[in-house]
Amino acid sequence: MAKAERILIVDDEIVIRELMSDILTDEGFSVASAPNGMAALEMLQSTNDFVVLFTDIMMPEMDGIELIRKARLVAPTLVPIVMTGYATLETARAAVKEGAYDYVLKPFNLSEIKMSVTNALERCRLANENASLLEITELFNISERIASIRSEDMLLEFVLEAALQRVEAERGSLMLVSEDGTQMTVARGVGLPQDYDNAAVHVKNSISGWVAENVKPLFVEDIRQEPSVDKLSWQLRDNSFISVPLERKSSALSGPEGEKGRVIAVLNVTEKRNQKTFTEADLKILSIMANHAAAALENVRLLRDVEDAQREIVFTLGEIVETRSQETGFHVKRVAEYCKLLGLKCGLSPAEAEILRLASPLHDVGKVGIPDAILNKPGKLTPEEFDIIKTHATMGYDMLKVTKGHVLQAAAVIALQHHERFDGRGYPHGLSGKDIHIFGRITCIADVFDALGVKRVYKEAWELDRILDLFREEQGKQFDPEITDVFFDSLDEILAIRDSLSDIE
Ligand code: C2E
Ligand code: SIN
Ligand code: SIN
Ligand code: FE
Ligand code: FE
Repeated sequence: MAKAERILIVDDEIVIRELMSDILTDEGFSVASAPNGMAALEMLQSTNDFVVLFTDIMMPEMDGIELIRKARLVAPTLVPIVMTGYATLETARAAVKEGAYDYVLKPFNLSEIKMSVTNALERCRLANENASLLEITELFNISERIASIRSEDMLLEFVLEAALQRVEAERGSLMLVSEDGTQMTVARGVGLPQDYDNAAVHVKNSISGWVAENVKPLFVEDIRQEPSVDKLSWQLRDNSFISVPLERKSSALSGPEGEKGRVIAVLNVTEKRNQKTFTEADLKILSIMANHAAAALENVRLLRDVEDAQREIVFTLGEIVETRSQETGFHVKRVAEYCKLLGLKCGLSPAEAEILRLASPLHDVGKVGIPDAILNKPGKLTPEEFDIIKTHATMGYDMLKVTKGHVLQAAAVIALQHHERFDGRGYPHGLSGKDIHIFGRITCIADVFDALGVKRVYKEAWELDRILDLFREEQGKQFDPEITDVFFDSLDEILAIRDSLSDIE
């Protein structure tokens, strides 16, 4: 051994520390020891040449698992191994999940310790050779990019392209596992024969299927040496390939099947450029990418579910409001479209304008709390009755403010502020000017324009000219003067929306 590799031993029992030190020193390693986690962390902080950490699990103050977690922050390349008695084998397994590389059982078996250290050092060597700083930085960038993609299609495409590029493969595919776990479909492919597009294969007779069922990567350097996988192979031109599973992270959502359905997709690569053979390093890179891709894929799907659910809630609540107040569904649809149009013209981004469009139909959701006798009173309201009507703004806000998500949060603000006036004489809070959220100022204009144009239990529909007169009159009073200008500038488009979503249909 050219240079003695440094090993740190942490145990609260001096007998164990001395025994381990003797064993490893005899093997030619350079050994240091610490009686507890704090002391160990200090040693790791002061020198960065430790390669392997042996730690006891059950220790007072800081246990071995916590030490591993903290040690990895101080020394990311350190390989941690836990030492444990039979009684805590379960804990040892948990430690391995936390990032421990291996565990050895007390009382110690010499060859077991040697084996464990040898493996650990081998892993270190691999890590050093293959994961150069450049490589790690690049992988990090890819991972960040993966996490930022919001659409499943784009995510799959990016993951496959990045994977092929990183390992210099000419051919590859991403195969999705079907809901029931029996089929695999080619969701994305590069360099595949034409007829593989969207092709489905049964898990029982494909390589990806094997990987999905066994939740294990498959790395074949030369398929001619592996008779067991050969029979699974489908028209591979090349003898070397790697297939890695994209494993589900959230076990809570995986349902009663447990293990089955743990794999969402499988990433396959083959035909390394210049007739080269894939390496362990390629496998490692692909495993890391598959890991990040799986998390991102789950996220994208979860978000889509949340957004579907939100759309559903928004729609249902909107319908309830219409039924209660005998307004037609077209009223809220028109308001939504006016809002989006005005929003875009006021400089909102397309995404913001879309949120406004989805949220604005809920502006009157608080009316569900107003008694019928008042809400649907055919004539003019008394001041007391109107005070009760005014509570619909705060009531709507209270209903929506507890929700999560952009759309319902926006709806909460709109419900609260759609009767505020630019001059500060509105309700419920008498806010003025830009203190009123732009969503509130826009929805106010859209709502009043539409309310005036239709018949209500308490009023007839107004002629357009009369409505426009009121808008000129209220510019800068009830309405934001700038948005009123935008409204007049967009009148043709507003009227086109009014015609296309007319009540008389
Ligand atoms: P809504 O029917 O959706 O009306 C929304 C807003 O459009 C009103 O907010 C008001 O700003 C405007 N608007 C509607 N009709 C007229 C009108 O004839 N003249 C003028 N100048 N503006 C009008 P507002 O006033 O805060 O009323 C909120 C809600 O209270 C109304 O929602 C409606 O549900 C109810 N409401 C208001 N006045 C009466 C009434 O006299 N009788 C009954 N039964 N309900 C009323
Ligand atoms: C939605 O799709 O629910 C709104 C859009 C967004 O939140 O970005
Ligand atoms: C979220 O806010 O994280 C999801 C809901 C949405 O985008 O509207
Ligand atoms: Fe209202
Ligand atoms: Fe309304």
